[in-house]
Amino acid sequence: MIEEGVIRVATPEEMRELGRLLGEELRPGDTICLRGDLGAGKTTLTQGIAAGMGTSGTVASPTFTLVHEHPGKVPLFHMDAYRLDSAEELWDLGFDDYLRAGGVVVIEWGERVSEALPDDRLTLALAHAGDARLVSILAHGERARELESILRAKWGAREVA
Ligand SMILES: Nc1ncnc2c1ncn2[C@@H]1O[C@H](COP(=O)(O)OP(=O)(O)OP(=O)(O)O)[C@@H](O)[C@H]1O
Ligand SMILES: [Mg+2]
Repeated sequence: MIEEGVIRVATPEEMRELGRLLGEELRPGDTICLRGDLGAGKTTLTQGIAAGMGTSGTVASPTFTLVHEHPGKVPLFHMDAYRLDSAEELWDLGFDDYLRAGGVVVIEWGERVSEALPDDRLTLALAHAGDARLVSILAHGERARELESILRAKWGAREVA
């Protein structure tokens, strides 16, 4: 049985569309935490977020570089914590500078360093379902709950259209 409220995403294009709808809403200081196994679609979703934010540069996996900076009206800091073992390692890499830089932080494998993340954050948990993906939304904090309800409304409107 599919958990209530879980979003089913059939294709990579749809995953980018989900990201785009979210990216359009993001403001400086928002933090998005992306969970999910290898190949679940975290980077694909981030490509959509970047498109929605209108940032420049191609979104690729920052696994080896930890952070990719995408300039824009609001900059996007795309991070990957796959190779990190603790919140301290994230701080050592200057994470608070990114948080204070007036941009949006999207962090893949963010749960690996959850103690370092802002209390208010929107977590999207991606899971394989054959060729499709299931996306669960977990909102911590007031702003995250606001983003969740906006995203659910936009996604729902899109399915009806
Ligand atoms: N429904 C779908 N949604 C998203 N990606 C899909 C879907 N179906 C197939 N794919 C493919 O799955 C792959 C997802 O790769 P992606 O790099 O986005 O995953 P990831 O979660 O970032 O992986 P990693 O943990 O290695 O960073 C892509 O090749 C994408 O085209
Ligand atoms: Mg990735």
